[in-house]
Parts: sequence; C-alpha cells; structure tokens
Amino acid sequence: MSSISMNRTSRLSDRVQEIPPSGIRRFFDLASTMENVISLGVGEPDFVTPWKVREASISSLERGFTSYSANAGVIELRRAIADYMETRFSVSYDPDTEVLVTVGASEAIDIGMRAILNLGDEVIIVEPTFVSYRSLVSMAGGVPVPIRTGIEDNFKVTAELIKEAITPRTKALMICFPNNPTGSTVGREELEGIAKLAEEHNLLVFSDEIYAELSYDEPHVSIAEIGDMKDRTILISGFSKSFAMTGWRLGFVLAPPDILAAMLKIHQYTLMCAPTMAQYGAIEALENGMEDLQHMRDAYRQRRNYVVKTFAEIGLPCHSPGGAFYAFPSVGNTGFTSEEFAEKLLLEERVAVVPGHVFGKGGEGYIRCSYATSMDNLQEAMTRLDRFLTKYA
Ligand SMILES: Cc1ncc(COP(=O)(O)O)c(C=O)c1O
Repeated sequence: MSSISMNRTSRLSDRVQEIPPSGIRRFFDLASTMENVISLGVGEPDFVTPWKVREASISSLERGFTSYSANAGVIELRRAIADYMETRFSVSYDPDTEVLVTVGASEAIDIGMRAILNLGDEVIIVEPTFVSYRSLVSMAGGVPVPIRTGIEDNFKVTAELIKEAITPRTKALMICFPNNPTGSTVGREELEGIAKLAEEHNLLVFSDEIYAELSYDEPHVSIAEIGDMKDRTILISGFSKSFAMTGWRLGFVLAPPDILAAMLKIHQYTLMCAPTMAQYGAIEALENGMEDLQHMRDAYRQRRNYVVKTFAEIGLPCHSPGGAFYAFPSVGNTGFTSEEFAEKLLLEERVAVVPGHVFGKGGEGYIRCSYATSMDNLQEAMTRLDRFLTKYA
C-alpha cells in the first residue's frame, strides 16, 4: 500500500462530505414515483424559450459556430448585456473588462466565492434564500453566516439585521432580490442602508438579481447603482428565469475589473467558456426578446395575484411577493412542521411543494409554492390544498 493511500481516511474531500444534499431533491424524487401530481415545487418557468431565440441559436449552428468562444463570452453578447443592463437597470459596465458570460448564474456564484474567499472568511447570507449559497461558500473555504428575515417584515432585510452579524472576518454579504423562496423585493431606501453599511465595513456584496425582470409592483433597483457600490458589487444574473432558458445554462456576472479577472481565471480553467450556440440565442433574447418577456411577466403577475388571493381565502397567511414566481405561505397554524405538511400534502392530495426549512433560517413553518405553472394547474392545486386544510382544521 502506498504511503499516500495509508494516510487517507476517506476517498472523498471533507469539504464535500460535509455539504448536505439539496433538501428540494427528496420531494422531487418522491413526487416522481407518483401519478397525477401537480407540482408547485419546481423553480423554473413553464414557458418554452421564445421561438426567435431558439431560431437564432439554430442559425448559429447552421452557420457552423460550433467552436469555443472567447473565455469571457462572445463580444457581441457581452456588449448586448452591457447595453441591456444600462437601459433596463441604469448600471453601466465595460463589456471588455467587467462582463463575464457564465454557465448559468450558478457558475457565477461559485466562481465569485472562489475568487474572493480565503479560508475562514465569513459571508453573511440573508435567509430564507436560494439553497446553493451556503454550500458554495463552504466549498470555497468560507464560513456562511445566516441571518433571518421574517414574514412580519415581508422578509425584507434591514441594515440593522446585517450589522449584528458583522465580525472582523466578514468579507462579503449575499443578497437576492426578488428573492427565492419568498418573492420579497427591496426598495432604494433599504438598499441605501445596506450600501452604507457595506462601505463602513469594507464588505463586498453579491447581489443575485436573476429575477430582476420578474418584478411586478415596483421597478427593480440594483444595489450596484447606489453611490460607489459598483466597485464592491458582484452582480449576478442570467437568462434562465426571465427568458425561460433554464436548460441553456447561460448566466452572466458584472463586477469590478480586478474581481472579474480573478473569476475569469477560474472560469477559463474549469469551463473554458459558456456554450457558443446558447450565447447566440441570448443575443437575440436581449436585442429582440422584450415583448416575449413582457408577455411572460404579465402571466406570472396574474398568477401571483390569484394565488395570494386564494391563500387568504383558504386560510393560509401569505405576504404578497413583489417578484420572482414563488409564494411562501405560513403553515405554522396547522400544527405540522413544514416538512410534515409538505409530505402529507404530497401523499394525500398529490400536490408537491417545498418545505421552507430547506431555504435556511426563518424558513421553518412555511412552504414554497412556485406559480410558474398553468392557471388550470394552480386552480386544481388550490382546490386540493383547501380540501387538505379543511381535513386538518
Ligand atoms: C436565486 C437564484 N439564483 C440562481 C439560480 C440559478 O440559475 P441558473 O439556472 O442561471 O444557474 C436560481 C435557480 O433557481 C435562483 O433561484
């Protein structure tokens, strides 16, 4: 036996072994063994990518664009992203040094963490939130420091809450608005408070704005446009949600040149570049896809209004989510934990939802219901939920 293998206690890295599997998976696995299930579980659009986007991608294949692109992404796409961000969200970025096209927003979060964290650096994560952040911080050698937001404040984070979690080891703050799973959004005032804190404590801010286009009540505001925040913000976004392009695996990140260069280094060694044919589709999405986007946003808004109204009628307290396509009603008064509620609802009424605790601190006592499904499905799911609640009232 070699000395190397003798010293090994496990074939697997400690870091990876310590990461729990995604809590969402268990419910999908269970639901997939059952028939007649209405899923409010998935976090992806029920629309197919607009035809013109698919056509642009097909055309790139027909023209033979099948090789690697530039590591940072094709320059036409980086320019289109910079133009789009300027027009839609008033943030301006240099396509040569501040824009990187990634394999989904997921990759952007991963390489962003790896680019800035040293062992033991702390990242404050505002929860309940997207399941990946905590694990990606840990895998990059950092320490996730979750803080809780609650229904009493519409799941809004305040500067005071963040301040309490800051220590000398805090390197960054992770925020996500509109939020997954609560759909919560924040306004300029709250962002100004957070920006001031970030400046006082020299924090970097990861701002996941992948649902920015799916804001229903107020126009989305990016923290990068406040004061000097652009220089300390890693703005993450992508095509998955707003353009119904989850399977294309295309995201992007906007960051100051030094941070972007470090991210690009990791990206070029691990991924080389995002899929070329997907990038040509994305150019079309940004340049000519706004009407399709508007159409999908209107449909989600209508569904949001329906589910929030119906939750109130059937007795599930729920704040009105300002964006994304999730509602996060409380099931606290049913006497079940969120895991018990979700499991019983699936087994007895065949409606799949995600128990809130998987989204971290403050998620227990809630369920995430995605309304990215047809009105027919939503109406049937609400009928079943009503029956379920009546049974256990
Ligand atoms: C908040 C948030 N960020 C990022 C992602 C990942 O997006 P992508 O498909 O672009 O990797 C998701 C997907 O659910 C999400 O909800």
